[in-house]
Amino acid sequence: MFGRNIMTDTPFGAFAPLDHRLGPSELRLHAIEFAPWRDQSDTVEGWLSADERRRAGTLRIASVRERFVLAHAYLRAVLACYTAVDPADVPITVTATGKPVLARHSAERSRVGFSLTHSDTHAVVAVAESELIGVDVERPRLDLDVLGIAHQFLSRDEADALGRSRDRRNDFVRLWACKEAFVKAIGLGLSHPLNAFTIRGFDGQIPELADVEPAFGPCSEWSLRCSPSFGDCFVAIAIKSATANVVRTEPWPAPPFARTPSHGCIGESQ
Ligand SMILES: CC(C)(COP(=O)(O)OP(=O)(O)OC[C@H]1O[C@@H](n2cnc3c(N)ncnc32)[C@H](O)[C@@H]1OP(=O)(O)O)[C@@H](O)C(=O)NCCC(=O)NCCS
Repeated sequence: MFGRNIMTDTPFGAFAPLDHRLGPSELRLHAIEFAPWRDQSDTVEGWLSADERRRAGTLRIASVRERFVLAHAYLRAVLACYTAVDPADVPITVTATGKPVLARHSAERSRVGFSLTHSDTHAVVAVAESELIGVDVERPRLDLDVLGIAHQFLSRDEADALGRSRDRRNDFVRLWACKEAFVKAIGLGLSHPLNAFTIRGFDGQIPELADVEPAFGPCSEWSLRCSPSFGDCFVAIAIKSATANVVRTEPWPAPPFARTPSHGCIGESQ
């Protein structure tokens, strides 16, 4: 278990005090902007597992590799605050379908579900009690044939709704983020057909899930949330929980690692 000095000495600075006890409907969003930390990626790479380092090593473009390392180091740092172990020791494993989860070594850890998403500029980690949680960050793109994609990959209801939209490009990004958040929550990723379920009300803050296969439980047991935009990125979260109260841990875009050495990590207060 780490203490105050270890975390204060990290390149990211010390951890902000963080109450790791999550309420049943609480969903925390931790986010980092890469730019201020780019020259630190070599230092935090040691936190990554052998497999994460291997994956980083396959990325030939230096900036892409840096972002991968920072995103995974950041994920480990966030989860370290919930599991009270060093970032390098956070027991991340992967399900048969590829979803990263915490290994169940203790009752406490089994109560922490998480999901990671990253863009060119940011990484976002969503944390909640439920392991059925997914988060996705998307940036609007001008070069997409939105209706063409919708008719090919999305449900008929969604394509029709986009056809009627007055803000089609932004609505498409919100919808796509919700879709990816859900397929990440169920752990199947894009191997699950995106037209096998429907998102309604995706132009608002609280979209709804519809027409989900019975295997994933009734739609009433799921919550979808759209975070207010992060810069020009859009973030959606899906969680199997009838209610979800999204809490952002720090004002965007400040890195969630406070730099004040007086703050310790939750690990030391146990
Ligand atoms: C998971 C997936 C939806 C991510 O979408 P994305 O927008 O490209 O990437 P994001 O940044 O939002 O998320 C990536 C993170 O999702 C997580 N992830 C990967 N597979 C996952 C799965 N099956 N379920 C939940 N989360 C998953 C990982 O933490 C990953 O981070 P990493 O690549 O740095 O390890 C997508 O990459 C996917 O389905 N991959 C599986 C392979 C696959 O089926 N490919 C088909 C391509 S058509």
